[in-house]
Amino acid sequence: MKGVILAGGLGSRLRPLTLVTNKHLLPVYDKPMIYYPIQCLLNAGIDEVIVVTGGEHAGDFLHLLKNGKQLGLRHLEYAYQEGEGGIAEALKLAEDFADGDKICVVLGDNIIEKNIKKAAGDFFTQRSGAKLLLKEVHDPERFGVVRFDGEGPGAPVVEILEKPEDPPSNCAVTGIYFYDSDVFEICKTLKPSKRGELEITDVNNEYLRRGDLTYEVLDGWWTDAGTFESLFHATKLVEQGGANLVDGQPRPMAPLFTAASE
Ligand code: G1P
Repeated sequence: MKGVILAGGLGSRLRPLTLVTNKHLLPVYDKPMIYYPIQCLLNAGIDEVIVVTGGEHAGDFLHLLKNGKQLGLRHLEYAYQEGEGGIAEALKLAEDFADGDKICVVLGDNIIEKNIKKAAGDFFTQRSGAKLLLKEVHDPERFGVVRFDGEGPGAPVVEILEKPEDPPSNCAVTGIYFYDSDVFEICKTLKPSKRGELEITDVNNEYLRRGDLTYEVLDGWWTDAGTFESLFHATKLVEQGGANLVDGQPRPMAPLFTAASE
């Protein structure tokens, strides 16, 4: 399985910080934001990764990540997204890289306390389709939200709604998705939403329609970091207990992950 990190967008909710750099290069406690999704993939045993980015500061990713070797990646490549077409539009750029393999897509501003090893293993043996990771939140209207057929996690999902005013549950769809190679054909059939973007929620609803969507509930905390509140919250969570823990511990970090000693 290969990894796709989506790190484009204008980061308009974080202006003026994002006038001079890409959102995913901003610090979350002691590391640039993009390190967290990379570590998330590495912890799941995924070391072939593409970073899809865009905008004026795309070149800064190369300065930071180089060829990825020092971070523990076996293969790192980059794709450049023109304009602002949404998550599913950005994902299309990973088709050649995926080359028919299953993929794990991580939004570059999503940070988790623990790891996705179990979900990745489960998806590896899933014959086809997609798998979502859900998390119960107190502000579901900010996210993609699932409607269950019955009570809460455990029941089948019947529908996914993007940022609903009146959420049918408090289960958000996190920005960590597993897909088979059909995802690229599905992306090509999508029409822009009201906000003018190709929505990842529409991709997930298509897998649901095909009866080929599974989900697991993510263990440990999950946060995005795309607003001042969530960026500050993410920084506090990382400072207090670390992120991307395996067996309750941070993994020994590759040299570039650690601060230089005096
Ligand atoms: C995106 C997705 C949303 C998902 C969220 C997770 O929203 O559209 O379904 O729940 O990421 O972070 P965005 O934050 O890009 O508006």
